[in-house]
Amino acid sequence: MSSTRLFIGDAHIPYHSHSAMDAVLRLAARTRPAEIVILGDWLDCNQFSQHPKTLHEDRDRELKRDLELAVDYLSELRKCCKRIVYLEGNHEYRLNRWLARHEAASIARFVSLEEHLKDTVGVEWIPYRANTKRRALYRVNSRTIAVHAWSEGVMAPWTHIRNSCGNSVIYGHTHRLEMICQGRVTGGHPITAASAGCLCSLQPWWASGKPTNWVHGAVLMRETKRAEQIIPVLIQKGEAIV
Ligand SMILES: [Fe+2]
Repeated sequence: MSSTRLFIGDAHIPYHSHSAMDAVLRLAARTRPAEIVILGDWLDCNQFSQHPKTLHEDRDRELKRDLELAVDYLSELRKCCKRIVYLEGNHEYRLNRWLARHEAASIARFVSLEEHLKDTVGVEWIPYRANTKRRALYRVNSRTIAVHAWSEGVMAPWTHIRNSCGNSVIYGHTHRLEMICQGRVTGGHPITAASAGCLCSLQPWWASGKPTNWVHGAVLMRETKRAEQIIPVLIQKGEAIV
């Protein structure tokens, strides 16, 4: 079995970049990872935002259309790997919050993103918020975890490594491609914090007037019995640069 894993996220469908998504599909086809981990915010779900950014926001767009597109991309990825793990991001969680605000718990199971993506693509779903049964993180192996994010500022890599309790941690949400690797005074494996960039438009209409420092990217992890190599992958001009 392949010892490679691919981590991607923040496509913000329908505000995704077609060229970045195509590059990721080609990267998955080329590397044939054992597992693909979606780091969250695959869907934007702006229909359920509590804080609409502008009057021009197309909030009437049907979630069904966005969901079909999300499933199409996930189905293509599914052909390249044995398993897809889907970490719910704060954007998918908007639907949960919207249902809570409207006291619509009784219909929640009929409009569950989790159930839909499990049924259509067979994803393993990791919730954004921990509950008593499940934790809001994915344990990749005995040394590495993945989360949507615990922080988004410029100190995010340090915050993640500080809170990871001696694990390496791979995260999304910041839309930046960043990595730090630290040795430990107690010895043992160095630990890494790495973020996977994004797959959405680098200057979407809802961020106009606020230039972004985002980049398209992904993270590859190659693993042996003793250690793993965590590799940030920049996607530029529709090509994944490995
Ligand atoms: Fe996010």
